[in-house]
Amino acid sequence: MPIKTVGVLGCGLMGAGIAQVSAAAGFKTIVLEVNEDVLKKGLGRIEKFLAGGVEKGKVTGEQRKTVLDNLSGTTKYADLKDCDLVIEAIIENVEIKKQAYAQVEAVVGPHCIIASNTSSLCITELGAATRRPDKVGGLHFFNPVPLMKLVEVIRALATSQQTHDTLMGFVQAIGKEPISAPDKGGFIVNRLLVPYLLDAIRCLEEGLGTAQDIDNGMKLGCGHPMGPLALLDFVGLDTTYYIANIMFDEFREQRFAPPPLLRRMVLAGHLGKKSGKGFYDYK
Ligand code: 3HC
Repeated sequence: MPIKTVGVLGCGLMGAGIAQVSAAAGFKTIVLEVNEDVLKKGLGRIEKFLAGGVEKGKVTGEQRKTVLDNLSGTTKYADLKDCDLVIEAIIENVEIKKQAYAQVEAVVGPHCIIASNTSSLCITELGAATRRPDKVGGLHFFNPVPLMKLVEVIRALATSQQTHDTLMGFVQAIGKEPISAPDKGGFIVNRLLVPYLLDAIRCLEEGLGTAQDIDNGMKLGCGHPMGPLALLDFVGLDTTYYIANIMFDEFREQRFAPPPLLRRMVLAGHLGKKSGKGFYDYK
């Protein structure tokens, strides 16, 4: 069955971006949040990004209108009843995700695919909690979603070929490049990215260079758009700490072990850009 209507669970940083690119590609998109206040904030995030795009000459007035026309917000699962695909981008907590999937399954048709944007949780486990494990997979987007070209399409143990093909096709339809990855901790990108980010923290801990020098090294020496410590601030130190711990639990390899400085910065509330302080000061 072709995808026409897309539901997005969560309108945070990732959910808002996902809803925006889905609506921009012409899919009727309904984004769900836990309450009106959070929903309003999330939709405001999309409007702000679009306004910024128009200002920069990157988004036309017509493209902005397409997104806003195709997009609606709700706080009721019942409004997702016509969805052919529901993309979940809520808190990284297995039990909360399972509860959300049960609420989705109570309203959607049997053909509906559920895809998680999780960066590190086991999609096979999430699928097993539903009545449709063959129709559960992963769609792992990258931040900032409207600007990053890649989406990892994750095939869990029980994901059917048809579901996987549909998800690959959906990613192409929203103008992104899909790569297929198995359901193993960190998939492809975080498997490579997380040890690199953790190593940058170890370099700082060892006094190999200042944060600025380490970042400039990778930015100017290797052509990365951001240095690793600036990227950690951008992704969130708590998020990276969480992902690293899950990957360490899965593989038991030293390279995924969070360095002591990362744990201490998280404990101190130095979470990066979102808290105003990380490896750099944003206040
Ligand atoms: N609407 C449309 N286009 C916009 C826009 C908007 N609101 N805002 C910016 N743009 C465009 C700009 O015009 C520019 O386009 P151009 O390249 O054609 O000139 C482009 O987007 C870049 O924007 P800026 O020039 O304003 O900003 P930067 O050049 O500083 O780039 C960045 C910002 C894209 C965030 C870049 O620094 C980058 O790519 N950083 C790395 C991000 C990254 O690695 N993300 C992945 C994180 S890992 C992850 O998400 C996985 C998770 O599991 C942890």
